Amino acid sequence: MNLPNMKEARLRTNKEVEFLDAKNIKSNKFQNQKYFIRTYGCQMNVHDSEEIKGILENLGFKETEKLEEANIVVLNTCAIRENAHDKVFGFLGRLKHLKRENSNLIICIGGCMPQEESVATLLKEKYPFVNIVFGTHNINDLGSMILEENKKQQIEVYSIEGNVYEHMDYVRDSKITAWVNIMYGCDKFCTYCIVPFTRGKQRSRKMEEIIKEVEDLKRKGYMEVTLLGQNVNAYGKDLDYGYDFATLLENVAKTNIPRIRFVTSHPWDFTDEMIDVIARYQNIMPYIHLPLQSGSTKILKLMGRRYTKEEYITLYNKIKKSIPGVSITTDIIVGFPNETDEDFKETLDVVNKCKFDGAFTFIYSPREGTPAAKIKDSIPLSTKEERLHELNELINDYSLKHNQEYLGKIVEVLVLGPSEKGKDKVYGYTKTMKLVNIENAKEDIGKLINVKITDAKSFSLDGKKEVFAKN
Ligand code: SAH
Ligand code: SF4
Ligand code: F3S
Repeated sequence: MNLPNMKEARLRTNKEVEFLDAKNIKSNKFQNQKYFIRTYGCQMNVHDSEEIKGILENLGFKETEKLEEANIVVLNTCAIRENAHDKVFGFLGRLKHLKRENSNLIICIGGCMPQEESVATLLKEKYPFVNIVFGTHNINDLGSMILEENKKQQIEVYSIEGNVYEHMDYVRDSKITAWVNIMYGCDKFCTYCIVPFTRGKQRSRKMEEIIKEVEDLKRKGYMEVTLLGQNVNAYGKDLDYGYDFATLLENVAKTNIPRIRFVTSHPWDFTDEMIDVIARYQNIMPYIHLPLQSGSTKILKLMGRRYTKEEYITLYNKIKKSIPGVSITTDIIVGFPNETDEDFKETLDVVNKCKFDGAFTFIYSPREGTPAAKIKDSIPLSTKEERLHELNELINDYSLKHNQEYLGKIVEVLVLGPSEKGKDKVYGYTKTMKLVNIENAKEDIGKLINVKITDAKSFSLDGKKEVFAKN
């Protein structure tokens, strides 16, 4: 990318990635001031926002959920599909209005959107009221950018590479479950996907640092960690240290933190050793998110996914067979350019064969700069919408069937907080990541409890805490 105001990016090969200590600038300049943050996109962005909150609180800001009382607003954006853009620009309209009433309001935009050259240029030319624009590689600079704020727009977006920062001050959203980055970026370059452009090349964290972070979280009483990466199974491939995801997973399991899960898996990098480690350790949750994207080998090839329909099904069956009770969810895109009815039927066929526990489904959205965006697409939107609808119905049927298998069973649930489903209820997740609403277990927030399942719907279960008689 070539932005006028952009810091010169140092292009490094992966082997030259620098591991740096985070700056964690502390100041009381903004004491008694408030920040409002809105996060779009994936878990990676949710966790980046915990880092942003750390930076803001180190400068003296306190969080508010009321936009009107904020002194600084941060939008942490996503670029994965066009509607993600639309939401952000819609919100910017509201902020422009607010800024007319309060000219001291500091508006910051970060995350994946500004990494796109067209967006950064648009913000520069059409949105001068946005004070600070930063990217995914330099979240760490946000503190100094805020301290330098002087009403002139600052745009600092690195182009391709990034460093790996350690020892950041996170303000975590939960005291029970925690996100742990194991890698940044992605090297897969699926032809439809913007992530390799917005997040850069794959950079794995060192295993020792990850283990230290998990041990620290365990000491603080955390019950669950989610290891985060766009393609966790490729962990370590960019380092010279000779370890892979199976080794990392095993070492994380040995910390004895009660629950471990990981997102996202790519079928191409899934090895037998990984399946074996997941099966062997009780604290690795039997839950795998394994994106399929399409059931048609022809479309998979056009998508650059590196596996065929049959290879996906073989891997799926291997995982099912080796890890008892495992639940598997997926992502599927419909309406990729030139997806025919036959191609779509192949997708339905895989869903019927695999009977996923759940799926996130999307209509293909062309992303500027990706190879797929150049393919001429003759399929009308109405056809894509019909396909999405048909697919969702099928997915929901299987989700319901899976949930019904839990009826009457007693399962272990990690209780996370008050439920939206009623005053006396709390919610939590089984180790297969089924959402459960539980009656009368308020005192159990943060604990693992046994729950008897009393009702099953497509997206959640109901249950009662099981109290065993003492004898
Ligand atoms: N790294 C993960 C997921 C990244 S994005 C993986 O490889 O699976 C999450 C999901 O968004 C993807 O799995 C894909 O289903 C969907 N997605 C990505 N790019 C898209 C696009 N251009 N249009 C529609 N859906 C897209
Ligand atoms: Fe995107 Fe593919 Fe990387 Fe996932 S693996 S982030 S879909 S390029
Ligand atoms: Fe969106 Fe960036 Fe995540 S594009 S899905 S927030 S990596």
